[in-house]
This record gives sequence, structure tokens and C-alpha cells, in this order.
Amino acid sequence: MSNSKKLKTSAAGMDKFRNQFLLIYFLLIRSTSSDTINASARITDGETLVSSNGVFELGFFNLNNSTNRYVGIWYSQISVPTYVWVANRESPLTDRFGVLTVTAPGVLAILNRTNGTVWSSSLTTPAPNPIAQLLDSGNLIVKDADDDRFTWQSFDYPCDTLLSGIRLGWNYVTSVETYISSWKSDDDPAKGEYSSHVDPTGYPQMLLKKGDIIQYRIGPWNGLYWSGAPDTSNDPTYFLSLQIFPNEVRYTEGIIGDSVLSMSRLNPNGEGVRSTWNNRTNSWASYTNLPVDNCDNYARCGPHGSCNAGTSPSCGCLERFVPRDPESWGRTDWSDGCVRRISLSCNGDKFLKYSAIKLPDTRNTTYNVERRSLAECQVDCARDCSCVAYTQLNISGDGSGCLFYHGDLIDIRAMASSGQDLYIRMAASEPGDVAGTSRNGGNRGRTRTIVIASTTSLVVVVFVCLIFFYVYGRRRKNDPIVGLFSATHVKEADLPFFSLPTVMKATDNFSNKNKLGEGGFGPVYRGVLEDGQEIAVKRLSKTSRQGVNELRNEVMLIAKLQHRNLVRTLGFCAQGEEYMLIYEYMPNHSLDLTLFDKEKSRLLDWQKRFDIINGIAKGLLYLHQDSRLRIIHRDLKASNILLDADMIPKISDFGLARSFGGNQTEAQTRRVVGTYGYMSPEYAIDGLFSVKSDVFSFGVLVLELVSGHRNRGFILNDHNLNLLGHAWSLYKEDNLRKLVDPCLDEAFDLGQVERAIHVGLLCVQNSPDDRPNMSSVVFMLGNEVALPQAKQPGFFTERDISIDHSSNSSNPTASHNQLTITWTQGR
Ligand SMILES: *[C@@H]1O[C@H](CO)[C@@H](O)[C@H](O)[C@H]1NC(C)=O
Ligand SMILES: *[C@@H]1O[C@H](CO)[C@@H](O)[C@H](O)[C@H]1NC(C)=O
Ligand SMILES: *[C@@H]1O[C@H](CO)[C@@H](O)[C@H](O)[C@H]1NC(C)=O
Ligand SMILES: *[C@@H]1O[C@H](CO)[C@@H](O)[C@H](O)[C@H]1NC(C)=O
Ligand SMILES: *[C@@H]1O[C@H](CO)[C@@H](O)[C@H](O)[C@H]1NC(C)=O
Ligand SMILES: *[C@@H]1O[C@H](CO)[C@@H](O)[C@H](O)[C@H]1NC(C)=O
Ligand SMILES: *[C@@H]1O[C@H](CO)[C@@H](O)[C@H](O)[C@H]1NC(C)=O
Ligand SMILES: *[C@@H]1O[C@H](CO)[C@@H](O)[C@H](O)[C@H]1NC(C)=O
Ligand SMILES: *[C@@H]1O[C@H](CO)[C@@H](O)[C@H](O)[C@H]1NC(C)=O
Ligand SMILES: *[C@@H]1O[C@H](CO)[C@@H](O)[C@H](O)[C@H]1NC(C)=O
Repeated sequence: MSNSKKLKTSAAGMDKFRNQFLLIYFLLIRSTSSDTINASARITDGETLVSSNGVFELGFFNLNNSTNRYVGIWYSQISVPTYVWVANRESPLTDRFGVLTVTAPGVLAILNRTNGTVWSSSLTTPAPNPIAQLLDSGNLIVKDADDDRFTWQSFDYPCDTLLSGIRLGWNYVTSVETYISSWKSDDDPAKGEYSSHVDPTGYPQMLLKKGDIIQYRIGPWNGLYWSGAPDTSNDPTYFLSLQIFPNEVRYTEGIIGDSVLSMSRLNPNGEGVRSTWNNRTNSWASYTNLPVDNCDNYARCGPHGSCNAGTSPSCGCLERFVPRDPESWGRTDWSDGCVRRISLSCNGDKFLKYSAIKLPDTRNTTYNVERRSLAECQVDCARDCSCVAYTQLNISGDGSGCLFYHGDLIDIRAMASSGQDLYIRMAASEPGDVAGTSRNGGNRGRTRTIVIASTTSLVVVVFVCLIFFYVYGRRRKNDPIVGLFSATHVKEADLPFFSLPTVMKATDNFSNKNKLGEGGFGPVYRGVLEDGQEIAVKRLSKTSRQGVNELRNEVMLIAKLQHRNLVRTLGFCAQGEEYMLIYEYMPNHSLDLTLFDKEKSRLLDWQKRFDIINGIAKGLLYLHQDSRLRIIHRDLKASNILLDADMIPKISDFGLARSFGGNQTEAQTRRVVGTYGYMSPEYAIDGLFSVKSDVFSFGVLVLELVSGHRNRGFILNDHNLNLLGHAWSLYKEDNLRKLVDPCLDEAFDLGQVERAIHVGLLCVQNSPDDRPNMSSVVFMLGNEVALPQAKQPGFFTERDISIDHSSNSSNPTASHNQLTITWTQGR
């Protein structure tokens, strides 16, 4: 019965024992999911194999309410069903009586209830004692139990998902191609319309096709990354590689390390999406979506046209080229493309450089991979009259190989960054030594002239433009890689992306009635998602350039933080000029609105206030010590403390926060940003910030919570002390009770109140070294320990605050919040 060598020896000659052993073995296999089956085991519907690291699981599944059963591999530990491979994608089982077997000589097969084979793997090398194993990479392999070599692997037959380790490309010897093909629909894994191929015609590039028609093109490979894609070569978390051998061409990509789950998938609608799993939000977070914009549409601007998503119209001719058919070009029909304004004559032609472009389609190219300088490439290209352009094949070294173009130059787009140079053949009489960048700027004027000069009605043109913008806008709605958020940011941030229409719908088009207030750099709106979840949307005001940096800072930091006393970020939205962060909604708004309101502050009894103090302390402790990063908030204040329905405080607004590596404990900034009344003296005066400057702000908050007064603007007739000074003088008089908010009506535990004030005063001491750290603060608040004597607070009279604002009054952030001061110190 068994083919297993091990079993044979261990059970030799002992039939009874063997049967018992087998029984136990089967029971074991069934109860503890194994990653391997051999010829005497089979997987029936309901059973699974689990890879040894527990990440992948193989078994039977169906999609939604379809009764079709498939055998496939999915991510085992996550709640969103994510099928990375389907064996019988074209031939589903119709009931739950299927089995998966591996039989000698090494064929994996799915059998239906009558033992008919509905799917089987191909056989290359026979394996007399075959086993099938689900590897940690998600690869299902077949091999002989006594041999390490695979005879078959699912990674050679990917479906719509590219996992780390799958190698796309061609084996020229067997003429077998490994490529990705989309599902027919979300409910049907059968091969759909779209497929993604490493195209070996000419110099390899990646083509995404709908049927046989090219939709968009990725590449060519420039040695470091795909031309036209962001330069990811310096990103340590991510790898891409294209290898060209005499017998094969192979492309692989993935996330380095196994700390995050990641995949690239070609969706049924032809969209390519790279994503990583976000444990916190329990969802896949996509960080690259292709196509990015209309300029990714293959050959959108025709031969010798260049597409620039940032201009309107987006198509222009390369410099020194003119529309082949000005009239159709004027009608924004760009398919005819452009031609040289002076034709080539072969002899005496010269080459002009076009920079910052995505290299054109390489199907009509030749190349050599020997080390050659650009000058040598030019000599070779000049010699060959059919060579119309050349460039460096591999930009990773200095002059390694040449790429020669023949025929039309198709599918060029202008790149804001990570573009490449192309040297295009030009008639000798064409003026200029070196062409400037091929941004469409140069010829846009001409295009416009032609548009206006042509007899086509301007109205039609405008109409077409409007349609274009509409389509364009829609196409970009899922594109998180916009403007100041680079792909890297998005990936690092690991935050789900919300489309603008989703957010607009949720906030009723940012209606005024949904406006919650004005945050640091723009308005905040309340919204309701379709599933009923309430959200708060912080929308960057369009005029605030500084805000972009702060929003980005916040996006980068907050995604990595998770604590009961920190506000939770649900995602972000970036489209065109719009940048937004989406948070969970806090029904009780910010602390200042309750605490400093005469009526509402009555709702905050002492217990609630003390809980809030403790909550903030724990949130801050997490930021300072317990999170993966050491984070200094830099703008802790009552309006940045949000309260949820249970009045649990959540620290928010990380726009100014800084993270610190390793053992660094303080830093200095030339741009002091913070809020008057909460800033520690060393920060306000010298720009020195450290965890102790946050401790100072925390101390201010504690005193505000006890007294119900703002530190800033606190006025008592008999002195000109601020709240800190007032608390300090009461501390010296040993009369702390007098500081307590009268609306608490004496209903409090005096010991607890005095402890809180005392800790608050310790936190606002003038010297940062005297202030306790947050772990001490949490401890002192929660335990009846003896407290050290407090020293004089920093900034304890109004007069002490003498800050020179004169050095720069026109700073754009100075106006965004009147409580925030910003200036550049002339040091
Ligand atoms: C399958 O392999 C296991 C472990 O290699 C072995 O113990 C067992 O006897 C084999 N069983 C079958 C079910 O052939
Ligand atoms: C699946 O079920 C939903 C309702 O639960 C129904 O609307 C839909 O038509 C069903 N789809 C199929 C393919 O049966
Ligand atoms: C299918 O094969 C299994 C194992 O070989 C056998 O036990 C079963 O009776 C077969 N079923 C049918 C319907 O032939
Ligand atoms: C099982 O598969 C065989 C071969 O594909 C087929 O002829 C037969 O009809 C199938 N039986 C059932 C019950 O689906
Ligand atoms: C299942 O149905 C839901 C809702 O109709 C749909 O969103 C989803 O794409 C379908 N497919 C899968 C695999 O869940
Ligand atoms: C994600 O969560 C799962 C289950 O809670 C856990 O096993 C896994 O280690 C987590 N992964 C990461 C990267 O935190
Ligand atoms: C806090 O929110 C809850 C739920 O919205 C509400 O019942 C409660 O009155 C609020 N408390 C304060 C102090 O506003
Ligand atoms: C702190 O970090 C610096 C540089 O990273 C290192 O030279 C120094 O030894 C570290 N100090 C301690 C106490 O770890
Ligand atoms: C916090 O302060 C206490 C008391 O001074 C000290 O023992 C502790 O090491 C400090 N913790 C950190 C993380 O600096
Ligand atoms: C404000 O700062 C900018 C840049 O730091 C500088 O160019 C400008 O001269 C400053 N304005 C004043 C009034 O000092």
C-alpha cells in the first residue's frame, strides 16, 4: 500500500503493526495539518495542507454562492479569502466529493466522485515515490521522496497572482512561457481576458494584453528597474530582477523577508495591483496600481508622440517632430503620431538627446550586452541606417551594452523622475546639439496653434477636453501614487487608500454641516461610509504647501502606531491636489471643546478627568518608549486630544511628530513649530526637542484638566502669572485644593487631585533633566509613592515668554492656526 521507504523499513514484516501504524499516521495527518501528501494519502474536500510556516493553505474552496469547487492555495492566516493559485481554474468540480491525489509516476490529479480526472499536472521526469508538498513560499511542488529536485511546481503555472519566487518569462528551449492571466471575474477563476507577459521580441519588456491587444507596457528593463516605473533599486524592502540567459529570460519580484504578506495580482478588469497585508486594518493595502494614468495606455500619442500626464492635452510630439496629420492631431486623435520635421538622409545624421522619458517599445530593437560606452553605441548606431535611436542598455554600470531602436519610436511618456535618456537620430541640418528634455512644453504651443488654426470648431475641442478630463479623473481615482506621495511612501505607510468619490460621498461633498472644525492645516469633516462606519476626514487645504509635508509625515508615522490612546487612522486619499487622512470618528470631539466650555465641563467629573490624564500618559508612554519607533509628538495640547464615545482620550495630529532612531534622545530644529502655552522653554527658545519637551506639554495638560483653565490666557486679577505660575505659587503655599476646577463641586479625592497636580508640576519643571520620563509619570500617577519636590516651572509668568517673531512673519504656516507659532531662527 505504501510507497514510502521509511515506512517499509520501520514496519518490515509486521503487517499488524504496520496497519496500526498507518491508522495512527492517518489520524495524525488528519488532525495536524501537514504540508505533504504521498501516494497513499489523498486530500478530500474539507481537508487542507498547510505550509510549515502556516502562511499558505491548500484545499478545496468555492467562490461566493457558486457551487463550483476548486482546488487552490490561499493565505491561511488572514480573514480576507485570498486565493493565490487555482489548480482546476477551467474545470471546476460540481460537488464536494472531489479528491486531490499524487500518484506514481508523479502526477498530481483532482478526481471527481467517479474517480474521473478533472485536472492533472503535467509529467516531465517520473518520480516513482512521489510526494506533493506545499512550501512556505506558497509553491506546491511534486518530487520524488528521495530526490530534492522538483518534477513539477505550481510556480510554473501561475494564475493571476505573482508571489515572490514565481519567475515569469520564457524558456527558449522548450518554448514554454510562464505568464500571469487574470480571472474571468471575481467569481470565476477561469482564464480571463487580460494577461501579463515578459515579451522577448527585441529587448525584453513586460506587456499587459487584453486578448492579443497590448493595453500597456512596463519597461524595458534598465538593469535596475523597469523604465517608466519608479526607481525602486534603493528600496531595501523590495526586489525586482530581470535576467536574460541564452536559453531563457526570467523576471521575478517581491518583498524581501517574510515579515509582511505581499502579492501582485492582475485583476479581472486588467488592473495590476501590488499589495501588502495590513494586520491592523485587516485588509490588503495596495501600493502600486497599473495603469497609473492615461499615459500608460499603450501608444496613446502615436509614433514619436510623447505623453505627459501633467499637461493638457497630454499628447505632444517629441521636440523636432511635427504631427503627421495636423488635422487629426488637432482633433485630439493622436494615433497617427508625429514625424521628423526634417527627414533623415542616413549619411551625416546626428543624434540628439531626449531626457526624462520612459523608453519606447523595444519590440523592434536589437541590443548587445557587452560593456560598451555610449560613444561606442553611437558609432554602431550611426553606421546602421535603420538604427533610429540608441541608448544605454543597462544603467546600473557605466556603459554596459547598447540598445538600438529601429522603425517608429512608440509609447514614450515624460517622466517627472526616474526617466531615461534616449539619443534619437536627426538630420544633420536640424539645429541644436543636444535636445532639451522632452517634456511636452516645447511643442505644446505648436499644438495649440494647430488646434486653433485648424478649422475644427473650438467648441468641439473643448468638449473633447472635458470628456478627457472626466475620463482621466476617473482613471486616476484608484491611483495612490500622486504628487508628493511617492510609491515608496504609500508602500511604507501601508495605509488603505480611499478614493476621492468615496470620501466625497461619505462627507456629502464636504458639506459645511459635516465640518467638524479646522485642524492644523485644513478643515476636518465628519463622514459616514457606505457600510455605516463614521469617519473623520482631515482635508489638506489647497493653499497649504507645508501641510502636505505634515500630512505625509503623519501618514508615514501613524500607520506604524497602534494604541488604545492614539487615534486610529483608517486610510488616506490622495488625488490631484487633494490630500486627506481618514480617521475613526470621535463622537466627543476634542478635549478643549468640553474642558474649556463652561457648561460642558460639568460633564467631566474628577474620575473622568483622572482617567483622561492616565490615558494620555499611557499614549505618550507608548510613543516615547513602547512603539517600534521613538516618537516625539511636539504638539501635544487639549485640542489634539480626542475623546471617543466612552470618553477614552486619543492623542491625534502627528503632523509635527518626529521619530527617532536607536538611542537618540533629543534633536534641534531651526523651525520651531508648536503651540503657545504648551511649549517647553528649551524648545521654544533653542529649538531643542526631546521626550522631555512632550513631558512638559503633558504637564500643562494635567494642570489644565485639574483647573479647567487654559494655560495660555489664564488671568487672575491679583497677579500676572499664567496657569503654571499660579499652580506653582499654590504649591509653595501648600494650597493645591484652590487650583481645582470649582465646577467639580468638591466631589473628588483630594489625595488623587494633589498627586495629579504635583506630577503635573514635576512635568513642567524648567530643566528638562528634572522632568520625569513618561514611565515614571504613569507610575507616579497610579501608585501612592512619595513624590520628589517640584522645582520652579519653565515659563511661569506671561512676561517670560519673549519670542522673536520678527525674523519671519510671512511664513505660510503662521496663519493656519492662530495658536501655533512658527518662525525660523537666525542661528
Ligand atoms: C507517506 O510519508 C510518510 C512520511 O514520509 C510516511 O511515514 C508514510 O508511511 C507515507 N505514507 C504513506 C501514507 O504512504
Ligand atoms: C448569490 O447570492 C446573492 C444573494 O445572496 C444573489 O443576489 C446572487 O444572485 C447570487 N449569485 C449567484 C451567482 O447565484
Ligand atoms: C475511487 O478510487 C478509490 C481509491 O482508489 C476507491 O476506493 C473508490 O472505490 C473509487 N470510487 C469509484 C466510484 O470508483
Ligand atoms: C467525472 O469526470 C469524468 C472525466 O472528466 C467525467 O466523464 C464524469 O462525468 C465526471 N463525473 C461526475 C460525477 O462529475
Ligand atoms: C463575491 O460577492 C461579493 C459581493 O457580491 C463580491 O464583492 C466579490 O467580489 C465576490 N467574489 C469573491 C471572490 O468574493
Ligand atoms: C499578523 O497577524 C497574524 C495573526 O494575528 C500573526 O500570526 C502574524 O504574525 C501577524 N503578522 C505580522 C506581520 O504582524
Ligand atoms: C460622549 O459621547 C457619548 C456618545 O455619543 C454621549 O452619550 C456622551 O454624552 C458624550 N459625553 C460628553 C461629555 O460629551
Ligand atoms: C548611540 O548611538 C551612537 C550612534 O548610533 C553610538 O555611537 C553610541 O555608542 C550609542 N550609545 C549608546 C549608549 O548606545
Ligand atoms: C525613566 O526614569 C526612571 C527614573 O528616573 C528610570 O529608572 C528609568 O530608567 C527611565 N526610563 C527610561 C526608559 O529612560
Ligand atoms: C523669511 O524666510 C525666507 C526663507 O527662509 C527668507 O527668504 C525671507 O527673506 C524671510 N523673510 C524675512 C522678512 O526675514
